[in-house]
Amino acid sequence: MIIPAFRFIIVSTWLLMASFAFGQTNIILLRDLDLSKVQQGWNTVHVNTNLLDEPLSINKKSFENGICTHAYSEIEILLNLHAERFTAQVGIDDHVSKGKYASIYFIVLGDKDTLFASSLMRANEPAIPIDVSLVGYKKLTLITHDAFDGSNQDHGDWVNGAISYSGEQKPYAFYPEAEAFYLQTPPVSDFPKINGAMISAARPGSPYLFRIPVTGLQPLKIKVCGLPKGLIFDPKTNIISGTVAKAGNYSISIKASNAKGKVSVKHSIVIGNKLALTPPMGWNSWNAWGMEVSEEKVRNAIDAFEKFDLANHGWTYVNIDDGWQADERNADSTLQWNSKFNDMKLLADYAHSKGLKLGIYSSPGAYTCGKKIGSLDFEQVDARTWGDWGIDFLKYDWCSYASIIPENNRIEYMKPYLQISKELKALPRDIVLSMCQYGLDNVWEWGSQAGGNTWRTTNDIIDTWFSMKTIGFERQNSTYPYAAPGAWNDPDMLVLGKLGWGANLRSSRLTCNEQYTHFTQWAMLSAPLMLGCDLVQLDSFTLNLITNDEVIAINQDVLGKQAYLVYESGDVQVWKKELSSKKIALAIYNFGREETNFELNFQQVGLHSKLHLRDAWTQKNIGKLTDNYMVLIPRHGCKLFVLK
Ligand code: GLA
Repeated sequence: MIIPAFRFIIVSTWLLMASFAFGQTNIILLRDLDLSKVQQGWNTVHVNTNLLDEPLSINKKSFENGICTHAYSEIEILLNLHAERFTAQVGIDDHVSKGKYASIYFIVLGDKDTLFASSLMRANEPAIPIDVSLVGYKKLTLITHDAFDGSNQDHGDWVNGAISYSGEQKPYAFYPEAEAFYLQTPPVSDFPKINGAMISAARPGSPYLFRIPVTGLQPLKIKVCGLPKGLIFDPKTNIISGTVAKAGNYSISIKASNAKGKVSVKHSIVIGNKLALTPPMGWNSWNAWGMEVSEEKVRNAIDAFEKFDLANHGWTYVNIDDGWQADERNADSTLQWNSKFNDMKLLADYAHSKGLKLGIYSSPGAYTCGKKIGSLDFEQVDARTWGDWGIDFLKYDWCSYASIIPENNRIEYMKPYLQISKELKALPRDIVLSMCQYGLDNVWEWGSQAGGNTWRTTNDIIDTWFSMKTIGFERQNSTYPYAAPGAWNDPDMLVLGKLGWGANLRSSRLTCNEQYTHFTQWAMLSAPLMLGCDLVQLDSFTLNLITNDEVIAINQDVLGKQAYLVYESGDVQVWKKELSSKKIALAIYNFGREETNFELNFQQVGLHSKLHLRDAWTQKNIGKLTDNYMVLIPRHGCKLFVLK
């Protein structure tokens, strides 16, 4: 690129002046660093253009030299104590100038000190200059922050960024060393074991379907006793199905035996008004396929449940997200699947034949977020259509409904969910209602009243540490009192395995320890566990991570309590979840950049000593402990214990 003469003169004058003052001073431009692996909210860091490949421009002034980021982004630059100053200008790129959502804080850190923090910047505001001393610092961190209101349109430009430094050693962009992936879940035992939820539900007269999740050496013999009238057990498929007319709480016993031994558990079948008595577990097409979802991909997912034995660890729902709908309704105004699907009813039958359940997606608005037909004014027709197809789960996504509400008040927020839940309840089958409106108006306070079984508490998750940590930790502590059987806070789907939101899949960008933290916290939060990856390409690490029955049991515990933060010190947080049978799950997280030794003091976390401690991930007893216990927690990693 040709540097215009006047810029060359400015830069060289600066260089000259600096060399007089400090001896040999060099300059490296921000855009010349290797920024290829920077994690950010959307897309990748663009050099000399905005994220749409247009010239950089802030408040109608264009810039030839700079980078464009998408909040949240974090660029770490190692200075090695040789740097002198960092100068730049920052602002929101003009291509979102009409975007009312764009809002960014630009932050510059020298080691842990804040050297610069902008006020909240919005579109069409002039660039703000930054000029800070770096003397005495080892590391420079440039942050584009989403201002805690979601990252929609948060495209932040850093223009004319330059670092002056002395000596030969250039500052360089730093990326933590790739972490080796390690397995913690022990291999599946040969002994018979019944996994997953110990409770299930249906309404009187609705079809009941439950596949018993069981592992152990084959052949396994399963016996079920005490089934209520109307249900039968098929030992070939391990599926209990049928219809129970009379409401009641039916306790059945499930026995499994093989050459290695036998086991017996009690399972409650609750025939009543509530569904989803434990958080729904399954798969959703969105994080893998985005709008590219097709019947073939959904069938592949169903087959992968079999191939990887996921159903025997409690994974049940196969949910189709946006992208299944045809562009027009049928002449009788019913919804139609598009040409990527053959027959939704046959697809549901296929899922049911494996003991799995099928989910679908729509919006209370005229259009979904992916601009497909929504259910506005056709709520009854659509609910009946889904009922006819044999759908078991509906994700109902706010999207374009935002443009039609007359006022932003709770009555308006509740209205479309009350309406669709009324239609669903009128059906002769059970459809779990998953509300998706990103946490508007503290939905956790009223989601259950509006008929929801689960409700998203935040904007969409992506596979970055910042996104997962903000959604899973900072946003969840106030929601815990509202979680209960049939009513779950939903911090969005899991970002593990191969993801891509479209045709181009890649591995999750979370490190190994970040993935343990992600799954652990979702288990602790009693969150719906929805895998969001291509199941066909399930790798051995992800499979090991998602089939730990003791971790899943924490999520599926019948008490249905959500974890809350009990202790915080520096980078360490301890979360506690009450379990049935007077057990407690305790998760210790390290948000720091380095591994840390943490001394767990039972009194500090509100527990008495002399507890039996078991590591849920490794499934090993640690023993009876007194007062304190020292644990080493990896960078961004965690430990998960069950205490008795
Ligand atoms: C919204 C939701 C996502 C997904 C898409 C589909 O963004 O939050 O989970 O359903 O819509 O368009």
